[in-house]
Amino acid sequence: MPARIDQLQEQAQRDLAGVTNADQLEQFRLKYLGGKGALKDLMALLKDVPPDQKPAFGQRANALRATLQAAFDERKSSLGAAPAKPTGPRIDVTEPGLPPTIGRSHVISQTIEDLIEVFGRMGFDVATGPEIEDEFHNFVALNIPESHPARDPLDNFYLENPYASAAKPGDESSSPRGLGGPGGPSASNTKKSTAHMLRSQTSTIQIRVMEKTKPPVRVVAMGRVYRPDEHDATHFSMFHQVEGLYVDRNVSMADLKTTLLQFVHAYFGPDAEVRLRPSFFPFTEPSAEMDVKMTIRGVTKWVEIGGCGMVDPAVFQAVGYDPEEWTGFAFGLGIERLAMRKYGITDIRWLFENDVRFLRQF
Ligand code: DAH
Repeated sequence: MPARIDQLQEQAQRDLAGVTNADQLEQFRLKYLGGKGALKDLMALLKDVPPDQKPAFGQRANALRATLQAAFDERKSSLGAAPAKPTGPRIDVTEPGLPPTIGRSHVISQTIEDLIEVFGRMGFDVATGPEIEDEFHNFVALNIPESHPARDPLDNFYLENPYASAAKPGDESSSPRGLGGPGGPSASNTKKSTAHMLRSQTSTIQIRVMEKTKPPVRVVAMGRVYRPDEHDATHFSMFHQVEGLYVDRNVSMADLKTTLLQFVHAYFGPDAEVRLRPSFFPFTEPSAEMDVKMTIRGVTKWVEIGGCGMVDPAVFQAVGYDPEEWTGFAFGLGIERLAMRKYGITDIRWLFENDVRFLRQF
C-alpha cells in the first residue's frame, strides 16, 4: 500500500511539471484533488488496509494531499502572475465608440434657409445679385446722391480693379473690366458710373430685379454686404442682409407693416415684440426702422434689425417703372441680428471666428 502512495506522488509530480497553462492545471486538479480524483480513490482503499496500518496509511495519504494541494496552489499563483496571452480579438468591440463628427451648415446659412422658407410661405421668390457692384446699383439708382455721406470712400470698400483675378492681362476686349473698368469713386452720377465696390447693402438687388422683370414683383434676396466698420459685439465689416421687394398696384404702408409683423411672429414666435419707428432712407418714402425687443447680456432693450419703407418714385424711374402706375414696399434686415435674437447670441464676432465649440451648438 505505501508503494501505491509513493507511485501516486511521483506520477502527480511529473504531471504537475508538465503543466503550462490554466487548463492543464485544472485537469491536474480534477485528476488528483477533485471529488472523483486519485486521492479520493486512495482514501477508498483505507477500508482494506489492515487495522494496525490504518493510522500510518491515513497520515501518509493526508500528507500527500497536503503536498499536492500546496504544489497546486503554488503553480496556480505562478501561472496567474504571468499575464495571460490574449487569445481573442485585441479590440474590445463592446466599448462605446466616439460619435462620428459630421459637418453641419453654419448658423447663418441655416438662418438664410429658414428665412427663405418663411418668406416663401408668404409668396416671396428668391433673387440674387453680385457682391462686386457698381455705383449705379449700389447708390445712383437707389436715389443716393453723390453728396450723400453713405458714398464716402471711408465708409465703403471701393475696388481699384474689381475683376483683377478674372481679367487676362492685355486682353482688354474680353475682360470683364468692360463692365466698368478700373477706377475709384467717381464723380459720375449716371448709369455709366465706372467705380466698383463690395456692395454695402442688398438693396442693389432690388434694382437688378426690377431692371429685368416686369411688375408685379415679390422677391427676397439674401447675401453678404461689406462696410469698413470697427469690429465689436454688434458690428462686423462683413455681414448678411435679407432684402424684400414687393411691387404691385395699390401697395400700401399697411401691407408693409402686416408683412413685417407676420414675418417676425412666424420667425420668432407669437410673443416677439416689434415696433416700427419713422426714419429716412433715400430710396423709400415714407421710411421706417424696425426694432425687436431683445435681451443682450441680461438687459432687455429695443434693437434695430433693419429698415423699410414705400419705394421712392425716383427708384421706379431709374429702372423704367411708371411711378404713376406702380407702388411698392421694400425692406432690408440684418441676418446676424435676426440670428442673434433667435439663438441668444450676444456677440456677432463669434459667428465668424469659426470656433467649432461655438458652431456645433446650432
Ligand atoms: N439698405 C438699408 C441699409 O443697409 C436697409 C434698407 C432700408 C433696405 C429701407 C430697404 C429699405 O429695402 O426699404 O441700411
